Amino acid sequence: MEQELKNLEQEALAALNEIQRLDELKTLFTEYLGRKGKLTHILRGVKDLPADQKPVIGKLSNTVKTNLEKSFEEKQNNLEKSQIDKDLNSGFFDTTIPGKGREIGHIHPISQVQEEVERIFSQMGFAIMDGPEIESEYYNFEGLNIPGDHPARDMQDTFFIQDKKDKKHGHLVLRTQTSPVQIRTMEKYGAPLRVIIPGRVFRYEATDASHDTTFYQVEGLLIDKNISLAHLKGVMAEFLTRLFGKPVKVRFRPGYFPFVEPGLELDFSCLLCKANGCKVCKYSGWLEFMGAGMVHKNVLKAGGIDPEEYQGWAFGFGLTRLVMMRYQIDDIRLLTSGDLRFLKQF
Ligand code: FA5
Repeated sequence: MEQELKNLEQEALAALNEIQRLDELKTLFTEYLGRKGKLTHILRGVKDLPADQKPVIGKLSNTVKTNLEKSFEEKQNNLEKSQIDKDLNSGFFDTTIPGKGREIGHIHPISQVQEEVERIFSQMGFAIMDGPEIESEYYNFEGLNIPGDHPARDMQDTFFIQDKKDKKHGHLVLRTQTSPVQIRTMEKYGAPLRVIIPGRVFRYEATDASHDTTFYQVEGLLIDKNISLAHLKGVMAEFLTRLFGKPVKVRFRPGYFPFVEPGLELDFSCLLCKANGCKVCKYSGWLEFMGAGMVHKNVLKAGGIDPEEYQGWAFGFGLTRLVMMRYQIDDIRLLTSGDLRFLKQF
């Protein structure tokens, strides 16, 4: 058997040496290494050999197979190269054959808008912060004035991760909002502060055209002395005007979030109908944009800031929803579908 294998290898190498064309090479490959090839036939028989011969012959067959495959590959490379040389030397070069273009990727629409948001807020003196996506219950809820038994916990369906970190921090969760980074930033840098925090958040929700389980938010936090909601109105009107490149008005409505007091919702004037009323703004002239409010005293305290000395506001908007408005995308799920036909449009 051993001799048979060695002979087969020699025979194949000799035949390979004679080959001049690629089609001949293919036929020879099938003869020795194809599914019904000579070597494949021997390899299949290894399992029926007596136990003492199995490892020796098995090892040898594999070595022969590897050697032959390598030799075939080398031969193929040589033949292909000599064919190109021949074409070039004969003066024949088909200039009409289309080149093989390399596909170049581009920035995802969510990242494009995120970069724009970051640029505008940077110009207004805001720093950009980041925080962990796997967060403790403390930062995601308690520190934000939402204790375990508070009904506001039901506002955000949460993915809990089993292990409990410790008594203070509770379970680990996939953060449901970017707000926990408010406390992390206050703890780390103290007051005054002017930051935005873009990032990915997660909610255990049934998906539909405007709700996904994974989406992006942008948090804003400004802490200083003598800060009021008038500053928020000014900053947001300026931000939206720069983002959309045309004048945008904003308005406040009362809203409830446990980590702000007073809390509010901010709408901006519909750009499609110039606030006259259309289908997109449900004939109100306004589009709902984000939650905001003056940072609650308990949250300032959790961040180690003295509420008697400093105050400030915070906001949080859905970046993914902003991308949808920007590009008039009618289903949020398209953005994370990975469908290149969709993504290539941006
Ligand atoms: C919050 O998450 C608050 N943290 C916002 C906030 C920050 C208020 C600071 C006050 C101060 P809310 O749950 O409403 O709020 O979510 C904010 C935005 O996220 C929504 O306006 C919406 O644009 C977006 N959003 C919420 N759920 C989804 C979802 N399932 N899919 C896509 N976007 C969503």
